[in-house]
Amino acid sequence: MKAIWLDCDPGHDDATAIMLAVHCSNVSLLGVSTVHGNASHYNIQLNAARCLEAFGADPSIKVYPGAVKPLIRPVRYDSEIHGGDGLGGVEGLPSPDDPRICERLNHPGGPVRAIEAIAKAIKESWKDGSGERVVVISSGPMTNIALFVSVYPELLGGVEEFVFMGGAVGLGNRSAVAEFNILCDPEAAQIVLDAPVKKIMIPLNVTHTAIFTKAHHSSLLNSEIIQDIAESTSELLKASSPLRHMLSTLLGFFASTYKSTFGFHLGPPIHDALTVAYVSQPELFRCTRYRVDVELNGTHTSGETVVDIWNYRETDDTWGNTGKNTLVAETLDVDGFFKLFMECVTRDIIV
Ligand code: BDR
Ligand code: CA
Repeated sequence: MKAIWLDCDPGHDDATAIMLAVHCSNVSLLGVSTVHGNASHYNIQLNAARCLEAFGADPSIKVYPGAVKPLIRPVRYDSEIHGGDGLGGVEGLPSPDDPRICERLNHPGGPVRAIEAIAKAIKESWKDGSGERVVVISSGPMTNIALFVSVYPELLGGVEEFVFMGGAVGLGNRSAVAEFNILCDPEAAQIVLDAPVKKIMIPLNVTHTAIFTKAHHSSLLNSEIIQDIAESTSELLKASSPLRHMLSTLLGFFASTYKSTFGFHLGPPIHDALTVAYVSQPELFRCTRYRVDVELNGTHTSGETVVDIWNYRETDDTWGNTGKNTLVAETLDVDGFFKLFMECVTRDIIV
């Protein structure tokens, strides 16, 4: 069992990452923190709590609010892709006023911020070296993670690895060369890349292969598949599933915005789910270790990830600011990934 923390900005594909984090059988989700990104931080934290509730996460898993804006730059949202509230078009989520949502967001003794919560979770798990390290996952702009790195350097030994969705090798989506999460807060991303912790980058080049096609959508709604996995009639009844309806509307909306914005006709790439999939089944990915930096000042290239595939930069063996700092995912076993995804949907229904 791997202990994980998820920092996210839900976001349709972040919602799928939350589902995997709750239902992958070999990961244990310690908590969720939220960051500005796909929508206002107000909406993002509500969305995280609503998703945890919808996916049946244990009530002890809470949501901790983090940075409402990048370190230096103005905040930017992505309503064109995710709708005005970050989860546009999604039906069947608990309402923001639902007491269970307030419960997920309330912490006894007053608000606990993201970096404090991450620090506490790592301290409790790692126990100064005698316990288990925590995998910290980021599926949004890396502002919270950069703040954590800067405020709690003594806890970095308790981080097994940072796994982040972001960047690309020679591609962009919110500029010609920059990917959204890195573009939102390039300075934060560089701070994380320089931290002396192993990093795994899941770039656009790979996430663009994880397309949720019409065939996947049909199997999501296909009752024969549900019948195969339901062992009793009562399970089957549960399986005529609000969850499948919710996911269907979520992925349907995401498909339509990816089609209208980027011309993705086959379906949307569910980028963020790959972070949790990597932790659960790293064998689905082929990765190579490179030096990765972020362009902070380019006239046309701000926010681009500079991946040194030809080893121009002299580097050492460390994961920090002098080393080949990042394992970059280069290929994905797409069928294997969607098998894992559907297993998690199934587990959600049978719970
Ligand atoms: C990333 O940007 C966001 O829109 C998605 O949630 C994902 O994390 C893809 O570039
Ligand atoms: Ca995201």
